[in-house]
Amino acid sequence: MQRFAFRRLPRCASLKTQTVQVRHIQYHANGSKLPPLVFTFDIDGVLLRGPHTIPAARRALDMLNGANPMGVKIPFILLTNGGGTHEEARRHKLSSQLGVEIHSNQIIQAHTILKSVVHKYAEKPVLVLGGRNDVVRKVAESYGFKHAYTTLDVLAWKPEAWPFHDLTPEERASTKAVDFSRIPISAIFVFHDPRNWSLDIQIALDVIRSRGIIGGPYIDTPEPEKPIELVFCNPDLLWKSDFPQPRLGQGAFRLAFQAVHEALVGAPYPYVQYGKPTTATYKFAEKVLRDRLEELAGGRVEEMPRVYMVGDNPESDIAGANGAGWPSILVKTGVYEEARGPPTHTPTYIAEDVEEAVRWAIDREMKQK
Ligand code: G3P
Ligand code: MG
Repeated sequence: MQRFAFRRLPRCASLKTQTVQVRHIQYHANGSKLPPLVFTFDIDGVLLRGPHTIPAARRALDMLNGANPMGVKIPFILLTNGGGTHEEARRHKLSSQLGVEIHSNQIIQAHTILKSVVHKYAEKPVLVLGGRNDVVRKVAESYGFKHAYTTLDVLAWKPEAWPFHDLTPEERASTKAVDFSRIPISAIFVFHDPRNWSLDIQIALDVIRSRGIIGGPYIDTPEPEKPIELVFCNPDLLWKSDFPQPRLGQGAFRLAFQAVHEALVGAPYPYVQYGKPTTATYKFAEKVLRDRLEELAGGRVEEMPRVYMVGDNPESDIAGANGAGWPSILVKTGVYEEARGPPTHTPTYIAEDVEEAVRWAIDREMKQK
């Protein structure tokens, strides 16, 4: 690995027009260069607002694609609490929205981490919640869940399970014919934001209170020997779409579920939480990032570059990055609103948008002694 002396240049010029020698570029056997920093980007509120691409996003990605004073491509991954579709479909869509090719090992959705726990449930019946029709069932099956059922399957089996929703033809077409009186559901996975909160809360309660057999007698004894596992993939109370005010997220659904469970049973139900800011998700992201860098480098990366997290949500993006020891940059294009006072979790830097965030981080690395 070669090191170069750092030559200080006037601030504004340095980023655009002059090539400069920087240090800490790692050169690898396959001739690839690894810069001293890499990025992890949040999606909603940083790169996208609902279906719309935030203009600064394309400029930021251009800089990472080599249009920067280090003169090298700066690797990045995308880490979102969103989901509800397969990573392959999501990367294709993102590649066209962002105008750069996003590779499958560059995107982590809220439920991607379930690939690391599926071995425990592959052969067991599970209930999967969230998203449209049976899309998350297909995602679950692609991860290795062999017996994944939806609440729409339950409604197709017994419409009286929730009399306030009639299946649309599209929903009915997505269902599987199942006799749930014979299916002991062992766990509930909330992959993505539920489309029908009331239906999903009702059926999740039925699974938990009937020890897996929907429609079976309720057994509310506090410590069942083999409790039904309840797993949420995204804790966000709010997220930023293209509506002027932030929208309720999966975290709000979890609170609604727990409020009903507590009202009926006297206590909230124990659950597992994945998604930003959880340590599990940031550890998973670190592994994905290292695998990506080693793929780019064609071999082992001795010195992991500094990972900069860019996010719009202090509760998830900044809290998680701070917990992982990554420098964190909070942008003003999403959930965080400066007018509401200081962020609940202190970032390393607050930037107007992702373009300024990338520029600031590169500049900061170039100044490192
Ligand atoms: O449903 C997605 C939302 O909770 C946040 O997504 O990309 O900002 O982590 P993201
Ligand atoms: Mg966001």
